Amino acid sequence: NIPSRVKLVDVGPRDGLQNEKQPVPAEAKVGLVHRLQEAGLKEIEVTSFVSPKWVPQMADNAEVMAAIQRQPGVRYSVLTPNMKGLEAALPSRPDEVVVFGAASEAFSQRNINCSIAESMERFAPVVAAARAAGVYVRGAISCAVGCPYEGDVAPERVELLARLMKEIGVQHIGVADTIGVGTPLKVQRALEAALRHYTLADISGHFHDTYGQALANTLAALQMGVWQYDTSVAGLGGCPYAKGATGNVATEDVVYMLHGMGIETGIDLDKLVDAGQYISERLGRKPNSRAATAILNK
Ligand code: HMG
Ligand code: MG
Repeated sequence: NIPSRVKLVDVGPRDGLQNEKQPVPAEAKVGLVHRLQEAGLKEIEVTSFVSPKWVPQMADNAEVMAAIQRQPGVRYSVLTPNMKGLEAALPSRPDEVVVFGAASEAFSQRNINCSIAESMERFAPVVAAARAAGVYVRGAISCAVGCPYEGDVAPERVELLARLMKEIGVQHIGVADTIGVGTPLKVQRALEAALRHYTLADISGHFHDTYGQALANTLAALQMGVWQYDTSVAGLGGCPYAKGATGNVATEDVVYMLHGMGIETGIDLDKLVDAGQYISERLGRKPNSRAATAILNK
């Protein structure tokens, strides 16, 4: 059942940097995107078109999108929580937009300032307009195993979100462990719930590594045949509305595991480590990736 090829979406420029306190210049974000595509990433989540009052770090969204030298075969995705975001994003020609809802009511309120039901009303026209413009639509389901405000989240909640997203025409869903509290069996239950409405071709795993479980959770998902994952180079990141949550699992660590299992990714691990080192240096810290650290210390 384990796939022979895996697609990784590097969400570092968006999920990774959105929570940085220090301003990161647009030029450094663009430099990161360039290095990621150089390393063989075929999809990069570049930025988000959200309120700059809520997430100041992403205020340079259009500037960053405009400065990227695109490579054929690489897809560039951006977050668009409402029509205002989509209208701002479309001139930047994203290949894919992401609407983001949550399996927990409390997190929906904190993150996007509306209930789950209201979020679907906001997303529906975004999905319709994006698809009419030929842009692919992904949906993120935050707090798929646990919520910083509500605690454990039942798989039924994930199933509900997957059904609601299906109903409004979302083409692909990401099952997100926003605060990295999941463990392998819980993550499998959440993915099974999502699989009631989407196929393996249309589901990805998005695991934050707060409790050090993300690699184990990735393996658990691989065993179910899930072959698409969001990861973050150098383990960058955290969500501004999930206090204390750390970044997504480091892309370098996942690539090292996959290649060791004989699973293809199309990614050059050494170049990926360079990309992680580049952005870490710009941020004045060391890459938060065990594999990168080991390779750099060799
Ligand atoms: P709201 O306040 O309910 O929106 O925010 P509103 O429509 O009432 O508008 C209020 C103000 O925001 C207005 O400005 C709007 O123009 C402006 P004012 O008149 O006060 O000057 N506004 C916008 N500006 C720019 N772009 C927009 C936009 N929309 C409204 N798109 C909103 C609702 C969703 C905008 C807000 O709550 C928000 O921006 N939230 C940010 C959420 C966010 O970015 N979270 C992090 C990303 S999600 C994540 O990390 C999870 C994920 O990784 C998966 C996982 O790990 O779980 C995906
Ligand atoms: Mg995330």
